[in-house]
Amino acid sequence: MDITLNKAKSIKGEIIVSADKSISHRTLILASLARGESRIRNILQAEDINSTIRCMTQLGIDIKHQDDYLVVKGKGLNGLKEPEAVLDCGNSGTTMRLLSGLLSGQNFFTVLAGDDSLSRRPMSRVIEPLQLMGAEIIGRAGNRYPPLAIKGMSLKGISYIPDVASAQVKSAILLAGLTGNGDTLIREKIPTRDHSERMLAAMGADLSIDDGEIKLVPGRELAAQDFLVPGDISSAAFFLVLASIVPGSELLIRDVGINPTRDGVLAVLEEMGGSFKIENQRVFGGEVVADILVRSADLKDITIEGKMIPRLIDELPVLAVAMAAAQGTSVVKNAEELRVKETDRIRAIVEELAGLGVEIKENPDGFSVTGSRELLKGGIVNSRGDHRIAMSLAVAAQICEGETTIRNAQAVNISFPEFWDLLDQILGR
Ligand code: S3P
Repeated sequence: MDITLNKAKSIKGEIIVSADKSISHRTLILASLARGESRIRNILQAEDINSTIRCMTQLGIDIKHQDDYLVVKGKGLNGLKEPEAVLDCGNSGTTMRLLSGLLSGQNFFTVLAGDDSLSRRPMSRVIEPLQLMGAEIIGRAGNRYPPLAIKGMSLKGISYIPDVASAQVKSAILLAGLTGNGDTLIREKIPTRDHSERMLAAMGADLSIDDGEIKLVPGRELAAQDFLVPGDISSAAFFLVLASIVPGSELLIRDVGINPTRDGVLAVLEEMGGSFKIENQRVFGGEVVADILVRSADLKDITIEGKMIPRLIDELPVLAVAMAAAQGTSVVKNAEELRVKETDRIRAIVEELAGLGVEIKENPDGFSVTGSRELLKGGIVNSRGDHRIAMSLAVAAQICEGETTIRNAQAVNISFPEFWDLLDQILGR
């Protein structure tokens, strides 16, 4: 699908963005492992979450929509059944990596596969620690890529320091550590999103965190819960940047999760001179939630590196657009992980924004952008099938002179199907 956009006059109004993707995956998986019926309110309805629902259903879990929530009938830590067919994780790295951990500790055989993009994403990062726990898990090309074949069995705990800063790796190890014998200890070099830890603790798992070290003692059953999923800050980020760079804008984004392991985009926008206010801050479902009122501002350059990267890893493509509209030269370093996302996001954002006239240069671990307050020039760009590239380009299109056509615009359905409608609602004409 192609979408053609024109420059925005201003951005005005009030929106609620789609529910958090990371939290939605975890509610489904953990509710399946709990004993009894969990209810999930405001779960994300998007392709990646459908992949997790499909897999959990094939594993014998009853998942149904009822009124405005999803009901998951959990069967306990050892209640899953062997699926009769390959589990198709679609485009979703989170589904595949989290399930690889969970299924390594279940007493049956599974195969996890995905689409072309997922089939090229690195899996040794989960296979290695799981093998240390005693798992029998193998992958294509010398254990590097999907499909993954798992002969599940009782595992032993490990003490592990992941090489890559990845919440998916951490969560896979924790899910494997829930069953089997012995404590699992994880120390992260750089903290990553902590939704799994928060939810496991709230559901009664024996999980504690001491001086940054996560300790999980297996064996305790998980209690079914009523979950409420906040808005996804990674989806809000597109609109935060949009309202910041389109002159004369004022936008209220309601109910956004601002978990401190995820709020790097706010810290960066603030340092760039962005104008926003956090209002109505509260806690729901163990996560901090707020409304964010954002106004346009004259942005200036920034360097993003080190510990900040995992706090905004998914927001870097749209932050490249903010940098293109900022005065000065901005740099992103230590972000090589972007190369192994749904597409090589460093190459994709550099080439596509360059096509719109942005002065942007690719580096092995990031990019540098020399911004200007002048309009970019519209043209034909391609999402390359990556949802976050599609939405970043849609934001860039709003400061382009002339028409911009986005090819493969349907990619937004992976995480944010309402994106085009919301954009349409708030574009001043
Ligand atoms: C996610 C973790 C991040 C992020 C992805 C979702 C998660 O990936 O990019 O969109 O839900 O745990 P990594 O763990 O590979 O950094």
